[in-house]
Amino acid sequence: MFSLEKGYFITFEGIDGCGKSTQANNLVRSLKNKGYETVFTREPGATVIGKEVRKLALSNQFDPCLECEVLLFQADRAEHVSKVIRPNLEEGKIVVCDRYFDSTLAYQRYGRNVNVDFLVQAHDFSTRSLYPDLTFLFDLDLEVAFERIGDRRDRMENEDLEFFERVRQGFLEIAKAYPQRVKVIDGSKNIEEIFREVCLSTYDCLS
Ligand code: ADP
Ligand code: TYD
Repeated sequence: MFSLEKGYFITFEGIDGCGKSTQANNLVRSLKNKGYETVFTREPGATVIGKEVRKLALSNQFDPCLECEVLLFQADRAEHVSKVIRPNLEEGKIVVCDRYFDSTLAYQRYGRNVNVDFLVQAHDFSTRSLYPDLTFLFDLDLEVAFERIGDRRDRMENEDLEFFERVRQGFLEIAKAYPQRVKVIDGSKNIEEIFREVCLSTYDCLS
């Protein structure tokens, strides 16, 4: 339930190329048109420090070790929650975020086999335990997603198919574990049809 005191936190998740940014942008436009004060943001890279972290985490120039990769995403999120997400929620706004903690679970836990208890602890430390109210998970075949991404791939997108299959299944496990919060969307449907589903769920939760 949406409350002006607390704001409302919506996240968009899924493998690269699943179509979540397109839908997140469309939802933000719709919410603003209906008069909701709404902020669109994304991870990694929404703050001044985050933009630098994004380069370090995703550029093909660098090859961070696993521990460094985990901590880069945490550093980005700590700054993001502290400077952008929490202040806007405290002003009673709706915050729509392209990727958040479920990406850490899917890519670093399921994709890279990092200990889940550590990831939860690191998240709780980085964010003072901020979790989304509503999450859209876009599920899509890897072949279709890769076709959409094309040839210009960042460091994560250059991982192999087995990695992305673990990530995709990981997202589905998360959705199974949190059915109240996570709505699974079939990313192979057309943009308009998906948008109708996203709006239905969102306005249902806000009412
Ligand atoms: P993501 O943020 O998940 O990486 P984007 O929303 O940026 O994905 O979409 C990746 C590409 O796929 C873009 O070119 C976009 O126009 C296209 N696209 C997005 N949604 C769909 C869809 N439902 N069907 C076909 N193409 C789509
Ligand atoms: P980005 O270009 O933002 O991806 P997309 O356009 O598909 O949303 O790249 C973010 C990449 O970082 C993506 O491959 C997922 C990865 N990532 C993690 O591995 N862990 C995380 O905690 C986050 C937030 C992102």
